[in-house]
Amino acid sequence: MTENPNFKPCDLVIYGALGDLSKRKLLISLYRLEKHHLIKADTRIIGVDRLDETSDSFVEIAHKSLQAFLNTDINDSIWQRFAQRLSYLKIDLTQPEQYKQLNKVVDPENHVMVNYFAVSPLLFKSICHGLHSSGVLTAESRIVMEKPIGHDLKSSAEINDVVAQVFHENQVYRIDHYLGKETVLNLLALRFANSLFYTCWNHNTIDHIQITVGEDIGIEGRWDYFDKTGQLRDMLQNHLLQILTFVTMEPPTNLSAESIHMEKIKLLKALRPITYLNVEEKTVRGQYTSGYIQGQPVPGYLEEEGANTESTTESFVAIRVDIDNWRWSGVPIYMRTGKRMPNKRTEIVVNFKNLPHNIFRDSFPELPANKLVIHLQPNEGVDVMVLNKIPGIDGLIKLQQTKLDLSFSEAFKKSRIFGGYEKLILEALRGNNTLFLSREEIEQAWTWVDSIQDAWQHNHTPPKPYPAGNWGPVAAVALLARDGRAWEE
Ligand code: BG6
Repeated sequence: MTENPNFKPCDLVIYGALGDLSKRKLLISLYRLEKHHLIKADTRIIGVDRLDETSDSFVEIAHKSLQAFLNTDINDSIWQRFAQRLSYLKIDLTQPEQYKQLNKVVDPENHVMVNYFAVSPLLFKSICHGLHSSGVLTAESRIVMEKPIGHDLKSSAEINDVVAQVFHENQVYRIDHYLGKETVLNLLALRFANSLFYTCWNHNTIDHIQITVGEDIGIEGRWDYFDKTGQLRDMLQNHLLQILTFVTMEPPTNLSAESIHMEKIKLLKALRPITYLNVEEKTVRGQYTSGYIQGQPVPGYLEEEGANTESTTESFVAIRVDIDNWRWSGVPIYMRTGKRMPNKRTEIVVNFKNLPHNIFRDSFPELPANKLVIHLQPNEGVDVMVLNKIPGIDGLIKLQQTKLDLSFSEAFKKSRIFGGYEKLILEALRGNNTLFLSREEIEQAWTWVDSIQDAWQHNHTPPKPYPAGNWGPVAAVALLARDGRAWEE
C-alpha cells in the first residue's frame, strides 16, 4: 500500500450529503481525520443534495450530526478548521444540466475531484452522465461508490458499464467498509509476515474455518431497502466474501492493488457453485421472530415498522463454502451472518486438525485441536488456543486449554485504531485504490451469490424462523453437526 507523498488537495463532493450515510459515517469520519491533521489544508468538502440548503445551513447540519453521532465532545478548534472546508450545492441528481453548477465550486486544475456517491445505486448512472456533461472531470478525477452496486450480476454490470463510459477503471473506488477495518488488514500481516502461519495455512493443517458476522440490531427502520435486499445480498455478497478472500487467497506478489485484486478474483472463481440441487444442504435461510436481546423485548422481522407481513426475505444466512483449489481442498469454510443475534460479534475462527496420536490419553483422552480466533468486532484482537501443562508435581501430566491473547487495544496502547470509513476515505483522498474493489471482483462475487439466490427461488426455500437473541435457526447448528462440527460459541 504505497503512498504518494505528493498527493494533491482534493475537492471531495458528497452526493447525498443530507442522507443517513453522510451524516452518520462520512462527516464523522472526516471530522476525526481532521482531528488528526490527516486532511490536506486546502482540501474542501462540498455537500450536494436536492434540498434547498445553503452552505451555512449545511455547516449547521454537519454540527448537529457530530453532536448526534460522534460519541465524544466536539472540540472547538478542530470544528472551526473542519467547518471552513464545508460548502453546499443544490443539485437534483436526476437532472444532468444541473451538474454544470459544479464548475462554480470545484477547481480541477489545483484540486483532485473526488466524487463520493452516498446515494441509492439507482442514481449512479445519472450522476455519471451529469458529471460527464458538466465538463468538470479530468483524468485525475475519482469516484467512490457505495455498496450495493446493483442487486445482482446484471444490474451491477449495467452500472459498471455506464461508469466505464465516463471513468477509467483506475479512477473508480468501490468501497466495502469492512476492508478499512484494522483486523481485516491485519490478516495480510498475520498470514504473510509470519512464517508460523504462512507454513500451516492450508489443508494439511487446517480442518475448517468459521466466519461469523452477527449484529444485535434489527433493520433499523430500513424496511424498504432491506426487504428488497435480504441478508445474503446486504452482508454476505460483500463483507463476508471480502473477509473470506483475505483469509484464503494465495499470497499476492506484492501489496499493489493489481496483485491483491488478482488473487482475490482467483479465489472467488474457485468457490464451488451452489445450485438448486445442493442449496438445501449447503445453506440456511432464517428470519427473526420477536424475542429478547440483552434482556430487552424486540419485535420480529414481520412486525418491524412498515413491514409487509407476507415477506419471506431472510435476515440470517449460514453457508458451507467449498473452495476448489490445491490449498483448500477438503477444508470447508462455514459462514453465518444475521440481524438480531445475541450480540454484535465479528470473528474468524481457524480450526486446526487434531494430532494423529495422543500420548496424554491417560489424563486427556481427546486432545482439543488448536484454534486461532481473530476478533474484528467489538474488540480487535487475536487469540490462539493451545494446550498447556497445568503446573503441579503429581505423576500425570495434566493439560488445560489456555489462551495466548493479543488484544490490539492493550498491545498497541499508543496507536489509535481508526474506523473503516476513516481509513478508506483517506485512501480515496490519497489516490490509493488497493483497498477498494475492482469491477471483476464485484461481478465474480455476484455470479456466485446469484446462483444461491436463484436456487432459493427455484426451490421456494422459505426462511426458517428464529427468535431474536439467538444465533439463527436450529438448522444452522445442523449445518455443521452433519459434518461432525459445531459453531464456536
Ligand atoms: C452495512 C449493511 O453494509 O453494514 C448493514 O448494509 C449493516 O445492514 C452494516 O448493519 C454493518 O456494518 P458494521 O461495520 O457495523 O459491522
